[in-house]
Amino acid sequence: MPNFTFEQSGKIVFGRGSLNELGRLTASFGSRVLLVTGRSFAVNSGFLAKILENFREVGLDVTVFQEVEPNPSLRTVERGVHVLRGKSVDVVVGFGGGSALDAAKAIAALIVLGGSPLDHLYPRSVDRALPIVAVPTTTGTGSEVTRYSVLTNPLEKKKVVMQGPALVPKVAILDPDVTDLMPGRLVASTGFDALSHALEAFISRRASPLSDLFALEAARIIFNNLPSAMRGSKEARELMLYASMLAGVAINQAGSTMVHGLGYYLTVHHDLHHGVANSLLLPYSLAYYAEKGGRVSELAEKLGFRSWFELVAAVCKLADDVGIPDSIASIGVSAGELDAMVEEAFSYKRNLENGPVMPTPEEVRNIYAMAFEGRRGFLKSLTH
Ligand SMILES: [Fe+2]
Repeated sequence: MPNFTFEQSGKIVFGRGSLNELGRLTASFGSRVLLVTGRSFAVNSGFLAKILENFREVGLDVTVFQEVEPNPSLRTVERGVHVLRGKSVDVVVGFGGGSALDAAKAIAALIVLGGSPLDHLYPRSVDRALPIVAVPTTTGTGSEVTRYSVLTNPLEKKKVVMQGPALVPKVAILDPDVTDLMPGRLVASTGFDALSHALEAFISRRASPLSDLFALEAARIIFNNLPSAMRGSKEARELMLYASMLAGVAINQAGSTMVHGLGYYLTVHHDLHHGVANSLLLPYSLAYYAEKGGRVSELAEKLGFRSWFELVAAVCKLADDVGIPDSIASIGVSAGELDAMVEEAFSYKRNLENGPVMPTPEEVRNIYAMAFEGRRGFLKSLTH
């Protein structure tokens, strides 16, 4: 048994109708609230009105910042702080997908720490922030239980991270009534982010027996439920909301690997959804780690597959089943970009170093080249 540390703070409230608890749970941190959300879903779904009514009932004073864009920029975080115009708040509530939650977390930190988000990026640790209450509206990022806030630096066209114990939400409310409204495509994309978290956490060099429990259970649920969740099954969606939280706990302990590190280029330069970026790199990264002696065979066996080949084939089949594009070429990446992609991948060293082995530039290039060719050819090369 290896030595390990497992730390997971915060209350998790799961269940249909649990959003009704938001006001009461938020009020336990104070009476002045900043609500952070995206531009459209909260309003269009009617949930914003419902939340504001709930806040009024328990006597909360609310400021709303509803301008978080997908892949939120550092500027958005600064705007979220400025919207308060010096007014103090006691607690920050994030309602939305990973983008709104990550923005809410960074804003909660910046209100306390001051300065610019650039002053507090990884490798610095965020040890102080306002209490955060997180309500995910998608089933993928697990941000409601992690100490990460992933942001975009628009000037350098780079993904950057704030991380630290103070960014773990004090309360996460997981209400499947909210995620029932997700479009099927978003279920597929965010579901692959959660699958990536689960599989990457297991093979990460920081994995522990306890983080493995969360990773394996999340992966099992996702393999069994993602296609029906995408097609609209409420039961399957409920399980996906649960699994994405489990995978969030796994990644909060063990961290992500090359899959995330290589995917950021696709999101930043091709505006590709983060989960889809992961899905387009996952099969080749798993095969690479398997060949290099990572725990991919053990992962496959624990998930009921006979070999790591079968696991990789199952990931490819799942991607096909939920309509993930076949290759990075089909989303508009050109072969001429390969050099730049490899160079940029190494700027996300924290992810690359967290895998079981550190890849060389040539190996990263090879993985991108396989992702460029696509899953169909790759699967044939595995079986022959
Ligand atoms: Fe992710």
